[in-house]
Parts: sequence; structure tokens; C-alpha cells
Amino acid sequence: MKIRALFLVCCLSSQSVVSTPGRYDAIFNFGDSLSDTGNFVRTRALAFPVIRTLPYGETFFHHATGRCSDGRLVVDFIAEALGLPYLPPYLAVAKGPPVRTGVNFAVAGASAIDSSFFNAQGIVLWTNDSMSVQLGWFKNLKSSLCTTKHECDEYFKKSLFLVGEVGENDYNFPSSFGWTIKQLRHLVPQVVGAITRAVDNLIEEGAVDLMVSGQLPIGCFSLYLVLFQSANKSAYDPRTGCLKAYNAFAKYHNNYLKQELQVLREKYPHARIMYADYYGASISIYRTPKRYGFYGGTLSACCGGGGPYNLNKSAICGQPGSTVCKDPSAFANWDGVHFSESAYHHIAKGLIYGGFTYPPLLA
Ligand SMILES: *[C@@H]1O[C@H](CO)[C@@H](O)[C@H](O)[C@H]1NC(C)=O
Ligand SMILES: *[C@@H]1O[C@H](CO)[C@@H](O)[C@H](O)[C@H]1NC(C)=O
Ligand SMILES: *[C@@H]1O[C@H](CO)[C@@H](O)[C@H](O)[C@H]1NC(C)=O
Repeated sequence: MKIRALFLVCCLSSQSVVSTPGRYDAIFNFGDSLSDTGNFVRTRALAFPVIRTLPYGETFFHHATGRCSDGRLVVDFIAEALGLPYLPPYLAVAKGPPVRTGVNFAVAGASAIDSSFFNAQGIVLWTNDSMSVQLGWFKNLKSSLCTTKHECDEYFKKSLFLVGEVGENDYNFPSSFGWTIKQLRHLVPQVVGAITRAVDNLIEEGAVDLMVSGQLPIGCFSLYLVLFQSANKSAYDPRTGCLKAYNAFAKYHNNYLKQELQVLREKYPHARIMYADYYGASISIYRTPKRYGFYGGTLSACCGGGGPYNLNKSAICGQPGSTVCKDPSAFANWDGVHFSESAYHHIAKGLIYGGFTYPPLLA
């Protein structure tokens, strides 16, 4: 409640627009743990059962919802800004009456590329619910939302489609299995291809407004900082403490994606394909953390079991041996793999109001 009050105070004073109801009637979201609002916990979720319990959710919902954070995610702040309800997870509503204000297909741990590609290389993912599976879910649901082509087109014209963030797991898992940056670079065309194929598919289904996300600065993530810890100071950006090579890799992916989105814009001139620059919207957190109230720091997790960056494989957040910081809003990094609500809020403001989505979301 306190956070919500702060949100209103901050936005009433700094922006004339708090929410823009009416622009969209629905949001459909595809992605991974950055935006999963409860699908993964409705699968067996064996790989990451901690998200079933507190402290996940402690800040805003006061119980675990299946979100990989202490509170709301970027997709929740986008829903608030558009005056729409938080998106229910597809697996919670698939069998019920149709939800006309939007549904979330994102699954924590999901890859952009089909999981069979990784399985064939001996890389075990958390989930097989990649982009193509999520698109299949969307097509299933579509028949309950509209019937004729005309009816569907009219409905989807007033819907916002969020594609990603997704793709990060396509790099996280191989990295954990020892792949080098050079090997990751060879994956980029396939990962971007899976993302743009999803965009193409959605436009063919009737989507007109789509917001497609780039990668975050993964060189700032505890996962990479722990995996590729270096005694060589020049591996780190002195301004942020992040791994330069992995941030450069994220930018490489993003540039590739932006080029491919341009191709899609030419193919579908009637569609409004927005690029959501998550990298740009989040890097300021690492450069000037105190400006955003991150007095606890940015690289070390609020919740964890000790060790470098407070990411301990034997005691991850929620497991015995882990502890949670007193004030998660003072930390950008929630559990070593995901952001805190406070960081998501900052990123969302950058994307919605701060010029980090182009063309802009609220035009
Ligand atoms: C994903 O699919 C593979 C191959 O069918 C299967 O062996 C594996 O258990 C599945 N993983 C999950 C998390 O369901
Ligand atoms: C440290 O890393 C830089 C590039 O990041 C490299 O040029 C240099 O050779 C490395 N030094 C050592 C001692 O490994
Ligand atoms: C990691 O967690 C284990 C289990 O709680 C604990 O024994 C170990 O000391 C922790 N490691 C560090 C570096 O704190």
C-alpha cells in the first residue's frame, strides 16, 4: 500500500498522465520470468519451486503469485498505465469464461527458440513452453474471444501485444552449461528469428500494435557476474561493475533485433511495431543507483544465501539458509536472477513515459 501511494505521488507530480484508459481494451503478453504472472507455478515448476512461497510477492501482493519478484513486474505497471486489470496467467483462465481484458502467456524459464534445440545439445531448460508453445495457447484462446475474422480484427486492433522480454534464457542456460560468448553470438540469428516469427504470426492473427523487447544489460546480472567472475579489472565497466563483454553482447542482440523489426515494418506497413529498449531503460539504475533509491546496491541480491553478489546455488532466495533484506525497494536485484518491484517500476516508467519505446507506446 505504501508503494502504491508513492507511485501515485511520484506520478502525479512528475507526469501529467497517470493512466491512459481507453487506448487499449486488452493486453496479450508473451515471454519469460520477467513477465510471468503465474503460468510457471501452474505447471509442475520443479526447477524453481521457491516462487510458490514468500518472500516472493511480499511487497505488493503480500503472498506469492508466481511472479519472480517481491511485487509487480513491468507488465503490471503497463496494465496500470493503460487502466486495465493485471493480466491473469493463461493456465489459470484457459478453461473458464473468456477474459476480455487480456491474458498472459509468459512462462518463467521460457526460451524463444523451441526447447528441443537445447535438449538436443544436452542443455536442460526449466520449461518447454517456448514462444511457439505460447503462440499455440494464444490461438486456442482466440476462438473463445472472437469468431469471425471481422470480429477478431476489430478486437485485436484495440489490443496491445507485448512480445518479451524473451530470449534471455536462450543465452542464460547455454552460458551455465559452459558456452562462450562466441558460441552465443552464433545463436543470435536463431533467437531473433524466433522472436520475429512470433511477431509475424501475431500480425497474421490480427495484431496491429506490438511492443517487442530487447535484452537487458545481462553483464550486470548476478548469474553472469558469478559464472564469469574475473580477476582482470578490465573485464568490468568501472562505472557500473558490470561485465563489459556481456553487456556488449546484449547490445549486439538488440541491434540484430532492431534490424529484423525494420524488415517486418516494411512487410506490414499497417502494423505499429514498437521496440522496447529495456537496455536503455535499465542501465541508468546501474550508473546512478542512488538517484533511484537503490542504497542497498544494484549487483548484489536482496534475497539470497550469501557469497559473491549474494547468489548462492546451495541457498537461493526462499530456500533454507537464505535471508531477505529489510527494504527490497533499496535493491535493484531481488533474487540474483530477477529485479525487485522497485527496479521494474523504474524500467516501466522509462518504457511508458521516458522515451525508451519507439515509436512511443502512448502516442
Ligand atoms: C521437455 O521435453 C523433453 C523432451 O520431450 C522432456 O524430456 C523434458 O522432461 C521436458 N521438460 C520439462 C521441464 O517438462
Ligand atoms: C584483461 O582483459 C583485457 C580485455 O578485457 C585483455 O586485453 C587483457 O589481456 C587481460 N589481461 C590479462 C592479464 O588477462
Ligand atoms: C551457501 O549456502 C550454504 C547452505 O546454506 C552455506 O552452507 C554456505 O556457507 C553458503 N555460502 C556462502 C559463501 O555464504
